[in-house]
Amino acid sequence: MRPRQLILTGGLVFIVICVVSIFRIGPDGTDLSSIRPGHKSHDAYDGDNLPRPPPVADSPFDPKPKPAPDGIHPMMHLIKDAEKALDATKAAQSKNLKEAVAEYRRRYGIPPPPNFDKWFDFAKAKRVQLIDEFDMIHDSLTPFWGLKPATIRARAKEALGFDNALLGIQIRNGKITHIQGGGEWQREATAGMMGKFLKWLPDMDLCFNLHDESRVVVPYEDLSRLVKRAKQVNMPAASLHSNPRNAFTQKPKGLNDGTRFEESKLTRFNVFAHQPTWTHSRLSCPPDSPARGLEEEEKKDDVSKYGVGPLGFVYNVTAMSDICYSPSLSSTFGFFDRPNAYNIVHDLFPIFSQSKISSYSDILYPSPWYWYEKVSYDESKDMPWAAKEDKFYWRGSTTGGFSRNGGWRRQHRQRFVQKINAAGGARILVNNGDETHQKWDMKIVPRGDYRDLIDVYFSGIGQCDPGDCAAQKEFFTVKGHVEQQDAWKYKHLLDIDGNAFSGRFYAFLRSKSLVYKWAVFREWHQEWLKPWAHYIPLSLRGDEWLEAVRFFTDDAGKKEAERLANQQRDWANKVLRHEDMEVWFFRLLLEYGRVVDDERADIGFSLNSAPATPNTDSTPEGEPEVKAEVETATETEVEAEAEAEAVAAPDTGADPGIEEVINEHA
Ligand SMILES: *[C@@H]1O[C@H](CO)[C@@H](O)[C@H](O)[C@H]1NC(C)=O
Repeated sequence: MRPRQLILTGGLVFIVICVVSIFRIGPDGTDLSSIRPGHKSHDAYDGDNLPRPPPVADSPFDPKPKPAPDGIHPMMHLIKDAEKALDATKAAQSKNLKEAVAEYRRRYGIPPPPNFDKWFDFAKAKRVQLIDEFDMIHDSLTPFWGLKPATIRARAKEALGFDNALLGIQIRNGKITHIQGGGEWQREATAGMMGKFLKWLPDMDLCFNLHDESRVVVPYEDLSRLVKRAKQVNMPAASLHSNPRNAFTQKPKGLNDGTRFEESKLTRFNVFAHQPTWTHSRLSCPPDSPARGLEEEEKKDDVSKYGVGPLGFVYNVTAMSDICYSPSLSSTFGFFDRPNAYNIVHDLFPIFSQSKISSYSDILYPSPWYWYEKVSYDESKDMPWAAKEDKFYWRGSTTGGFSRNGGWRRQHRQRFVQKINAAGGARILVNNGDETHQKWDMKIVPRGDYRDLIDVYFSGIGQCDPGDCAAQKEFFTVKGHVEQQDAWKYKHLLDIDGNAFSGRFYAFLRSKSLVYKWAVFREWHQEWLKPWAHYIPLSLRGDEWLEAVRFFTDDAGKKEAERLANQQRDWANKVLRHEDMEVWFFRLLLEYGRVVDDERADIGFSLNSAPATPNTDSTPEGEPEVKAEVETATETEVEAEAEAEAVAAPDTGADPGIEEVINEHA
């Protein structure tokens, strides 16, 4: 460019920047922050006539973790805060139906769904701890309130009519009349998990994702419009009724007799396993979020949203697992590199998934994998804290993504194992104050000084082209196969995402060891398990991994680690039982039943509601209640079977679906 052109172009660019910063023209500014927290509209000056501050030049976007307050170790701050928040939440829970209904209306503005009293009785009888904490259900169904009920039903039907890797369930007259797809254990577990409350559910067709990988991404503009329509039109219409009808509408249009799925001639799900998915996954992120950066250098993680102190301990797990803040995941996370399975749709389809990435619109539900205890905890093999070794332990295989052309270097498990074992310097914190006025500063030390603390290795290499498998066997120290129950020998256990959520998390939490979790995938339990009170969250980047372990094995943190392990175990035994999953699932299916009901604005529960009748309308009076056709296995049966399977299967520590996946892709 010649100088004149340069000046002209520069001038033009300057004018454009001024205009944009003055008017801050944004895209259709629906605030998604309340459904997928964290994306505040930056448009602070729209519409009023207040004087505007002069435009300031943008400073380069280079966020750092928040500074940590002094006085105690940053982790101790986080633990105290988490415990305080948990106590407050516990104390605020509704004591009775009246309070629960009032709390529901306060939070969501609409009446609770029909049969809410039946659900409440069920939850009370099962001694559920946090009886008001179900925001995730409301948030994930909110976009569906932006669609017509008939549209959602038609999409479920469409999805089930094609070979879309789904497990389909039809509910008619309070029982499961048809179930198809998936392995036998999954059918049994999914049906079993709803067996106790089927009679309170309306007729509907449900689509359960057979893949571990989530699969519904709605572009930001569409999702915004759906949420807007939900919140500004359809939910307000439902909120008008102070005394709604406490019954689902009978015979929803378009549902068949519930004995089969009718064939669809086409599918909107595109299948591209083993290919990059970042561009698709970030589609629902706000245009001004780091994940949507247009240039490579704009793709910087906003660590300030979740990291604290020089090492970046995680103070906000929701923000950390929000991929819209963390474009670095595009080249550090297996799912975005080459997922093992990927069937993706960009229209809002009602797909129930066991775990998902933040930007996806799948509906989370408690994993039947857990309900069925596919990875069990055998207390007789566990031991007291004092008898355990002071080590940070993990074994597992190279799941996370499929590796081709050296792609394993971009996958999270490989990166974790490599980083925690790497030679060279590591950062730790040292106390430069005294006992009462601690001052923790960063220090670089040889990582080798702490080698004895770390026992993190692969026990298997898989999901790779032959060349990549060979390269990984060469690069990593692969230790032999171990039993899941061997983990209890160690005080500090790592749990890390594989192809999706790691299926052993609950077994770990129930053990007497302290659990550290590295996860991007989200699960149904998010509101019931509190990071720092019930497990130690680890950051994506990992500057603090070693320090977390070092502190909890050192004099200053030892006692605290033991206390936390006990607290974690007690809580897991209260909120992750079969009963808890059933209660959560019951509430989810009542909510889903309402959002697909043509008269959803007129139905719901209030204290004046007429008592509900079970959904067994065709049953003549006096006849015994219809029972779920698929027999619910009793808990002991399930456990026994899961155990038998665990004995038979060589890799009980595998991620959910790994057997199927390996067969599928071997
Ligand atoms: C955590 O992050 C989420 C998402 O950014 C945000 O909505 C929430 O308010 C944050 N919570 C806290 C306690 O900072």
